[in-house]
Amino acid sequence: MTVVAGLARRASRARNATTRSAPKGNGNVNGKRILLIIGGGIAAYKCLELIRRLRERGAAVRVVLTRAATEFVTPLSVGALTNERVLTSLFDLSDEQEIGHIRLSREADLLVVAPATADLLARMAGGHADDLATTVLLATDKPVLAVPAMNPHMWTHAATRRNVARLAADGIEFLGPNEGEMAEGGEVGLGRMAEPHEILAAIAERLGGASGASAALAGRRVVVTSGPTHEPIDPVRYIANRSSGKQGHAIATAAAAMGAETVMVSGPTNLTDPAGVATVHVETAREMLEAVEAALPADVVVCAAAVADWRVADAAGSKIKKSKGKPVPKLDLVQNPDILRTVAELDAKRPPLVIGFAAETDNVVANAKKKLRTKGCDWIVANDVSAGTGVMGGDRNSVHLVTAKGVEDWPRMSKDEVARRLMERISKGVAKLRGAK
Ligand code: C5P
Repeated sequence: MTVVAGLARRASRARNATTRSAPKGNGNVNGKRILLIIGGGIAAYKCLELIRRLRERGAAVRVVLTRAATEFVTPLSVGALTNERVLTSLFDLSDEQEIGHIRLSREADLLVVAPATADLLARMAGGHADDLATTVLLATDKPVLAVPAMNPHMWTHAATRRNVARLAADGIEFLGPNEGEMAEGGEVGLGRMAEPHEILAAIAERLGGASGASAALAGRRVVVTSGPTHEPIDPVRYIANRSSGKQGHAIATAAAAMGAETVMVSGPTNLTDPAGVATVHVETAREMLEAVEAALPADVVVCAAAVADWRVADAAGSKIKKSKGKPVPKLDLVQNPDILRTVAELDAKRPPLVIGFAAETDNVVANAKKKLRTKGCDWIVANDVSAGTGVMGGDRNSVHLVTAKGVEDWPRMSKDEVARRLMERISKGVAKLRGAK
């Protein structure tokens, strides 16, 4: 456990638990046409992954690169992924036999601008049409999703605030930006572009039309815990752990994508709230338990949060001062409630499927089997988080699914893929369980 001292910038925000309602229409992108306008920012590289994921799910992706974007990604690499000619200038469209900008702007189901740089947003807000990207954006009659990415000072600058407000009033939808470290200069703040899986979920949610596999959990309610908890020492210091929330957020995203009514109770993270998920922000373990209990009844509860085992018995109401000669303060710790066990031990309100995680550094599977018994849950997803695996905070995970029937060893894969596979297993499991419709 790490003790983080210093101003807890996000903590005050997290302390006031907030709920955002789930937008309607979780869907998939199969057969949808996306026009992706890539702006000139360092985050442009994330669009390659976004294109790959969209294509994998059956979407057709056509790409327009701004001139500046070609400094970050090449038409060749983008074209190889889209299998389509990449358009960079108005003159690419000079042959009207082929495709004009009006047709280009209207043939898509959705236009996505990523990264939406400060300059591109300003030009959109001003109604410019001096290159292919802005011309298409002005000519379209289709919804536009902007995914901003820029330096935190540029994002909070009055000019950008004005442009974003103008565009929002014009009906442009926004996703992000996220809080976190900037690619350049190690600066930290609000300005990181949303991650590809977040953009994908937002696109799927906006395009709606849950169908086929994506509707497998329609009518089901899934509650997911995610991220770390912060346990205050005083108003500015807290006890925390290294959980990023990536796995929990990916599970909530996957549940919503399969049509489940999804509630995610999240400790403080740098991630964007997933589209289509009602997110409750909490700070401490006790707040997390309260929010989970308030979210019941549910068909499935997945406890993916790395809940702090202990909290400070008597958190100070004002900042503890250090002064020469004064003894170093001693932290008196008390046990936090175990959310997973509490939910698994409920009587009438016990969800039919309760799933826990076991982050272990030794004897991963043996410990997970023991945890299945002691926690009283139905499944345990066990993973090795020892140093060198890169699981804590990383994008990949290798897990073992431990159930009463036995142990499945899953190959190493992205946390998104783990989430998708887990939700597929859950949808099959739920269908067989008591309360199955
Ligand atoms: O006991 P341990 O922390 O290893 O158990 C991990 C599992 O228990 C995870 O699913 C975690 O979300 C859950 N947990 C909890 N409340 C706690 C501690 C752990 O829900 N106080």
